Amino acid sequence: MNPLPGFRDFYPETLALRRHIFDRWRAVARRYGFREYDGPPLEPLELYTLKSGDEIVSQLYNFVDKGDRAVALRPEMTPTLARMVGAKHRDYKKPIKWFAIPQLFRYERQQRGRLREHFQFNADIIGATDVTADAELIALAIDTLRSFGLTEQDFVVRVSDRRAWQRHLDELGIPVDNQYAVFQAVDKLEREPLEKTREKIAAMTPRVDEVLAFPKDNLQELLDHLGELKKFCRVDFKIVRGLAYYTGIVWEIHDRKGELRAIAGGGRYDNLLKLISGVDLPALGFGMGDVVLGELLKGRGLLPKLDADLDCYVVIADETLRNAARTVVQQLRDAGVAVDYPLSPAKVSKQFQAAAATGARWAVVIGPEEWPSGEVTLKNLATGSQERIKISDLPERMK
Ligand code: HAM
Repeated sequence: MNPLPGFRDFYPETLALRRHIFDRWRAVARRYGFREYDGPPLEPLELYTLKSGDEIVSQLYNFVDKGDRAVALRPEMTPTLARMVGAKHRDYKKPIKWFAIPQLFRYERQQRGRLREHFQFNADIIGATDVTADAELIALAIDTLRSFGLTEQDFVVRVSDRRAWQRHLDELGIPVDNQYAVFQAVDKLEREPLEKTREKIAAMTPRVDEVLAFPKDNLQELLDHLGELKKFCRVDFKIVRGLAYYTGIVWEIHDRKGELRAIAGGGRYDNLLKLISGVDLPALGFGMGDVVLGELLKGRGLLPKLDADLDCYVVIADETLRNAARTVVQQLRDAGVAVDYPLSPAKVSKQFQAAAATGARWAVVIGPEEWPSGEVTLKNLATGSQERIKISDLPERMK
């Protein structure tokens, strides 16, 4: 029995990597004043058919539950957030700055960097209309990637604006109802043969070349608010985003070499809360996945060495001291030290091998010579140096 295609087993080494990524996400979100929330992984199907867009709806894991409800595993977090904020917005001061790390499910075509489940760092601001909020989110995304050791040589933020795109298509006489179809075609520009994109646009307007001449706008106000971080950004109207609900500035982060799928993407979606919850609040945010990020970190040699994080291994030099050893183990654990010890009798040399395999910094030897005088031998496993110390001093020394 294997896991389903596109689903991952997380063995301890891979889970340690996932936790490394989550820890950084949380730390940077906290620095920016965002609070963590979560919602249900299973939602009413309708939450996504309302406004997420055809592509994501075609990728849904959906079914009818035993109560005859049409339900879907969440493919993205934004509709859930819109529902949650709409229901309780009076309880929170605006702007609301929240983040989440949901596991999301999409029945995607198998390809590099795209799986059928992934974790996504979501950060959103609700109740802010100024471009300063767009800049704040882009800054958060940049600082998040920098916190992993990535630099401007590694990634680029490609910024664009749906309003500039709308003006461009208005000027070409393309009716509003046809504009989203054009956006979907442009969104695929770098992932499909150009001819296919042109065909899709031609179905909406004969002015294909003019559409592909792109809007002209330098997004100066946004870039000004980014200050120093401007060097990470590039105005690029090939970005429109595939999701249907975006209404303003949109952006994606890509690796500089352009080898991988997007690392992150987001933008402003001022109408979604009204549509989902009836509460009219402006909103913006982004999502950053763990899959492409993990590949990029691996490619750049930026994955830290992630061993088991044990502090200490207790070696039982004489089996008659097992109860004594148990007491020491308990004392250390009570003091917050991460401790392991052999569960069955073993030669001392075998126990030291086990200690080395756990990656513990210290070994504490409980031996017949030291024990009667209330002492143990503390050995530094990295340097090999050892000393006899009082059992009562042990927890302090470990810290
Ligand atoms: P998205 O562009 O669909 O946006 O996804 C954001 C990021 O999640 C992508 O750039 C990618 O890193 C990751 N991702 C998406 N699908 C997969 C997949 N199948 N496998 C691996 N990674 C994936 C959204 O989902 C928006 N809801 C983001 C947002 C939040 N906009 C406003 N607030």
